[in-house]
Amino acid sequence: MRALVTGGRGGIGRAVVERLSGRGYHVVVADAAALPTSADPSTSHLQVDLTEADEVRDAVVTAAGDEGLHCLVNCAGISPKRNGAAPQIPEIDTDEWDRVFAVNVRACFLTLRESWPLLVEHDGASVVNVVSAVARLAAAGPPGTQFGLVHPAGAHYTASKAALANLTWSAARALGPRGVRCNGVAPGYINSGMRNATDPEVEQAIVRQLPLGRPGTSDEVAAVIDFLVSPEAAYLTGEIIDVDGGWNPD
Ligand SMILES: NC(=O)c1ccc[n+]([C@@H]2O[C@H](COP(=O)([O-])OP(=O)(O)OC[C@H]3O[C@@H](n4cnc5c(N)ncnc54)[C@H](O)[C@@H]3O)[C@@H](O)[C@H]2O)c1
Repeated sequence: MRALVTGGRGGIGRAVVERLSGRGYHVVVADAAALPTSADPSTSHLQVDLTEADEVRDAVVTAAGDEGLHCLVNCAGISPKRNGAAPQIPEIDTDEWDRVFAVNVRACFLTLRESWPLLVEHDGASVVNVVSAVARLAAAGPPGTQFGLVHPAGAHYTASKAALANLTWSAARALGPRGVRCNGVAPGYINSGMRNATDPEVEQAIVRQLPLGRPGTSDEVAAVIDFLVSPEAAYLTGEIIDVDGGWNPD
C-alpha cells in the first residue's frame, strides 16, 4: 500500500509518516523542505512546491509508482505571524493572503484532483485533510483584546482552513460512491512547527483555556489520522474530528 503525505517533514507530518509506515504503507513525503540524508526504506521524499500544479502532478505519479495510491494526507500548511501574534487584516498584503490560500487550500485541491483517479481504483482508500480548530473561529482580535477563544491565527489562515473544511465535505460526497472516504482532523494548539512561532504570552493565554491543561503532541494528532485511514473508520466520511484537548467546546 502506498500513501502520499504532504508536509511530511513538519512536526505533525513526521508523526503521520511514522504512524503510516508502522501500518505497512510505503509513504511518499511531498514537502518544500530540503531532502533528508537518512535513508529509511519505508519512506521516499520528494521536494515539491505544492502550490505548483505541474509539480503536484509529477509528485502524485511518482508517489503511486506501479502500485497505485491508497491514501492521501494533506498536512502541509502555513500560518504567517507578526512577532508571534496574528497579523490584523490591514497588515496582510495581497501576496501573503494569496500565499496562505495557495498552500492551505489550492495545494490540497491539487493533490486531491491529481490523486482522484488513482484513489478510486482502490476500494477502502482514504483522504485526510489537516484542517484546524480555528476553521470555526474568527481571526484573533487586536493585541490586548481577548474576544472568544484566544489563538494566534490571522484572517487569511482561519478563512483558508474554513475553505479546507468545506473542500473536505465536498470531496467526501463525491468520493463516497466510489468507495473512497475523505475526512479531516482539526488540531488545536499542538507542540509542533507552527506553535514555535507563537508569542509566549499568547501561548499562556491559550493553555489556560485548555481543559486538558497542555498543548497536544504531533503524535496525538497522527494517532487520530491513523485511525481515520484505518478499516476501523470504514463508516466515517465527511467528518472533521477535533484533536484539541477540549478547546472548542462543541
Ligand atoms: N501546530 C499546530 O498547533 C496546528 C494547529 C492546527 C492545525 N495545524 C495544521 O497542521 C499542519 C501541520 O502543522 P505543523 O505544526 O506540523 O507545521 P510545520 O510548519 O512543522 O509543517 C508544515 C510543513 O509544510 C511544508 N510546506 C509549507 N509550504 C509548502 C509548500 N508550498 N509546498 C510543500 N510543502 C510546504 C513545510 O515545509 C513544513 O514541513 C498544517 O496544515 C497546520 O495548518 C497545526
